[in-house]
Amino acid sequence: MAGSIFGRRKGLGDWRNYSGNRALRRTLTWPHLVALGVGAIVGTGIYTLIGIGAGKAGPAVIVSFAIAGIVCACAALAYAELATMMPAAGSAYSYSYVALNEPVAWIVGWSLVLEYTVVCAAVAVGWSGYAVGFLNSWGVTIPHAFAAGPHAGGIINVPAVVITMALAGLLALGTRESAFVNTLLVVLKMSALALFIVLALPAFDTANLEPFAPYGWGSVEVGGNTVGVAAGAALIFFAFYGFDAVSTAAEEAKNPGRDLTIGIIGSMVICTAVYMAVAAAAIGAMPVAEFAASGEPLAHVLRSLNWPGAAQLIGAGAIVAMPTVLLAFMYGQSRIFFAIARDGLLPERLSHVNARTGTPVLMTMVTAVVVSIISGLLPLGEIAELANTGTLAAFIAIGVSLIVLRRRAPDAERQFRVPFHLPIALIAIGGCLYLFISLPEKTQLRFLVWNLIGVAVYLAYGMRKSLIAAASRKEA
Ligand code: ALA
Repeated sequence: MAGSIFGRRKGLGDWRNYSGNRALRRTLTWPHLVALGVGAIVGTGIYTLIGIGAGKAGPAVIVSFAIAGIVCACAALAYAELATMMPAAGSAYSYSYVALNEPVAWIVGWSLVLEYTVVCAAVAVGWSGYAVGFLNSWGVTIPHAFAAGPHAGGIINVPAVVITMALAGLLALGTRESAFVNTLLVVLKMSALALFIVLALPAFDTANLEPFAPYGWGSVEVGGNTVGVAAGAALIFFAFYGFDAVSTAAEEAKNPGRDLTIGIIGSMVICTAVYMAVAAAAIGAMPVAEFAASGEPLAHVLRSLNWPGAAQLIGAGAIVAMPTVLLAFMYGQSRIFFAIARDGLLPERLSHVNARTGTPVLMTMVTAVVVSIISGLLPLGEIAELANTGTLAAFIAIGVSLIVLRRRAPDAERQFRVPFHLPIALIAIGGCLYLFISLPEKTQLRFLVWNLIGVAVYLAYGMRKSLIAAASRKEA
């Protein structure tokens, strides 16, 4: 048996065979997908983690941004090729199922579930913090018991649960409606970042860049904190991903070849350019130590530069920005579950698509409940790093899948081909490994525990129930 599971693999064209309530409706075009990508990328990372990252790396956080950006750009190119080759809803999970084998695909899918769920939970809690502060400034106070989880002395984080449930409801109404709302919100939050750049960049002073890398270029433990430029990059990595959520919309794109390429690469290019400008503006405007500890670093910078009204607007922008990240990741999460269940590795009921809305309503709701529970119970601080582990695992699988499929199926139809694919894939794989080892040890350990649970679930359920296993039993 052990030998045979590693030989279980899907064919390149298998995703074409789905129909009826096991298929998704094609309603999205490339502007929707660019907006979905930018909506998933720009959020907690640039609005909040830029401060924590600056605390870890000093002004050299701009180098951390560049490292994380390069690794993500290489992964994005690989995603674009694989997504247009196999426009399947399962993203990295589906590609690994074709390029590698079922057990690896399961681990990748299980890592994606961790990534998507934890990102949603982190964003819901972050949003709640901004929302509570914003309401407070208008004289509306939410009692602490209902504004924080038990870890912070509260009972339940009500705003986090409310925003999660509201967005799940929006998704359950149908994809196109939510993509439209997403596009509007994306325009608003990008305007807020543009405002920050325009106001903070003219205050650039090179004196603020000294000392440039106070904790060195690597990743070292100092007083229980993991610091250094590499440690900063391993955290800031959180700010860059989200373009992978575009690939989970593959089965809903009207013209997958063109729409996915533009969606994935376009959103990545736009965000990298904006991030570098925001990071340069922030570190040049004031000494990083002065905004690193702030829960709202960008607003803090503007306030210090004597732009209090603009600081309010940035806060409002963050409140608007975060739901789009939640929307995109919750959307992606439901599709990952959908793809895994459709292959028989999770109970089949989960893959049912609602006939009227064309969306997997049950899974969207299950996702929302799980995210609500996590966001109600867990502290925000380390969640981003945990989400990164799942993403790094998926990106490594993407790099390996790109190399394997170029060798195994060199002539298969590819609507987008990565130029210099080998160095690009190797940078993605090596870069992700480097970022993974730069994360705090306890985060690496949590990732390991999550995957040991995943292996147990696979051995107990998926290994026996997989459609490939059932098909080979029939043949035998
Ligand atoms: N890139 C997303 C964010 O920064 C996950 O919120």
